[in-house]
Amino acid sequence: MIRVIFVEIDGSRRVVEARPDDRAFDAARNNGITGIIGECGGELACATCHVWVDPAFAAKLPPPGDVEQELLECVFDRKDISRLSCQIRLSEALDGLILHLPPRQI
Ligand code: FES
Repeated sequence: MIRVIFVEIDGSRRVVEARPDDRAFDAARNNGITGIIGECGGELACATCHVWVDPAFAAKLPPPGDVEQELLECVFDRKDISRLSCQIRLSEALDGLILHLPPRQI
């Protein structure tokens, strides 16, 4: 199993487990992480699954595709480490991945 750590804006943390090839979005949804809404169901059409990838892991992810980039231009609180969690595919190399949840926007 792969551990994913979700960090709320107040600093509180939840550690969840996911299977290899799950998406970070799936790990959040399967474990009741409420800061990730995912209105489109992970179909890369809403940007409500926005997260900030901890800098220690940001370079381990492949770069965002064109559609993800376009959607990220629409999010509040965008940073260089912003990604859409439905586009983060988990692997053993990402065990311990830390994802920060931006403030809720809706
Ligand atoms: Fe909609 Fe990721 S869940 S873009």
